[in-house]
Amino acid sequence: MSAEAPIDPVATGNALVAARSFADLPAVHTLLARLRNQGRPVWVTPDGYRPFWAVTRHAQVVAASSDNATFISSRRLNLMSRLQEAAAFKGGERYGAVLRTLVHMDEPDHRDYRAVAQPWFNALAVRQQMGSLKELSEEFMGQLAARAGADGVGEIDFAAEIATWFPLRVIMSILGIPLSDLPLMHRLTKTLSAPQDPDFSVDTAAGASMFDSIPEFTDYFLAVIADRRRAPRNDLATVIANGTIGGAPLGELEAVSYFITMAVAGHDTTAAAMAGGCQALAERPEAWARLKREPELLKSAAEEMIRWVTPIKHFMRTATRNCELGGQAIRAGEAIAMFYLAANFDEEVFDAPQEFRIDRSPNRQIAFGFGPHVCMGMVLSRLELTTWYAEMLSRVESLAMTGPARILESNFLGGYKSVPIRFRLAGGQVNGSSI
Ligand code: HEM
Repeated sequence: MSAEAPIDPVATGNALVAARSFADLPAVHTLLARLRNQGRPVWVTPDGYRPFWAVTRHAQVVAASSDNATFISSRRLNLMSRLQEAAAFKGGERYGAVLRTLVHMDEPDHRDYRAVAQPWFNALAVRQQMGSLKELSEEFMGQLAARAGADGVGEIDFAAEIATWFPLRVIMSILGIPLSDLPLMHRLTKTLSAPQDPDFSVDTAAGASMFDSIPEFTDYFLAVIADRRRAPRNDLATVIANGTIGGAPLGELEAVSYFITMAVAGHDTTAAAMAGGCQALAERPEAWARLKREPELLKSAAEEMIRWVTPIKHFMRTATRNCELGGQAIRAGEAIAMFYLAANFDEEVFDAPQEFRIDRSPNRQIAFGFGPHVCMGMVLSRLELTTWYAEMLSRVESLAMTGPARILESNFLGGYKSVPIRFRLAGGQVNGSSI
């Protein structure tokens, strides 16, 4: 029995679906802790949304994600209002008409489609990107350093000027998309990933949705697919464009969806971890100093950044049969929303979860999800973070926030709009000349 006051299903549901909630970290952590303290999934009925079970315990997110025969993805994958769903589903129960990405698929299709690009993302293949990641880190570090004055001190909005662009450049380079399309890629991925934020928004109240940018995305990627079928190259776009399922090429919808997932998932998630990680370090000078002394902690520090930020706030599943989750009966057809941010701050799994610890070990964070749908880009993403921060640590002596961070309003893919920092370059080196 929980000692907590009962949860109001409408008010709590409204808070969980509101994009604004996730831009106020203390408030959202209080809300998620209250839900976690119930001990079992909680039924919520937000206004304008179909009801769902809020799953907030680490063990329950792991259990549901592991069993994708009982909890399927294709029916309802993320929180959208009834209006947005009506637009996206085009009258049907499935997403099929608009997007059919890996994350939307269930077995056996999921396994077959995942196999198309999976080998490209294995540890060995990703490690081959290390050289270009290092080069890109040096390029971005050059941009940061160029902001320093003669005293080696400079200011920059780390989120807007570094973190947003670094992972986007990585994924574009991996896919083989020309640099000249950078502004287009940025605009399209932002509309898809942050439709609720007033700075990027489409009018969600009028039923507009994240799917509105898909026609433009589709035209763009269909041209890429045609090009790589005609003239294969050594890039991920070629792998997807020439992938086969049962001997036949990927359908148009599935191939375009594959590209869209790569562009969006490969960009904003890592950008969020990078920017939130910078804020965490800027607010903890002792952690930055220790990382400089003990760079072998970089791996665990990157893992802690990912836990701390948990860029993707939730994914959903639908029960295929009457079952039980965390002691709660769930009926066939009911949806669950798995809140990774809540799971990653579960006191049953993490010692002092509200502390940012660069040496946290073990760190059983599940920001990448769990089970058959576990993030395909996790090796790449970790490598991006460690390569960037290794570069930054080698060049930056110290850093501090110069104002508050601004967090994206999104109940799905979170991120940072602004992380304003002041930094001091190491050794007084500015553009190669000693000061
Ligand atoms: C910190 C960075 C990242 C986070 C937090 C993250 C998070 C996630 C999560 C939670 C899922 C599971 C979806 C589910 O269970 O339904 C997922 C799946 C996926 N992610 Fe990531 N991701 C990150 C970076 C990346 C990168 C860099 C790429 C690619 C370049 C990527 C590509 C994918 C793909 C393709 C899937 C679908 C896998 C499947 O359904 O089988 N992600 N990611």
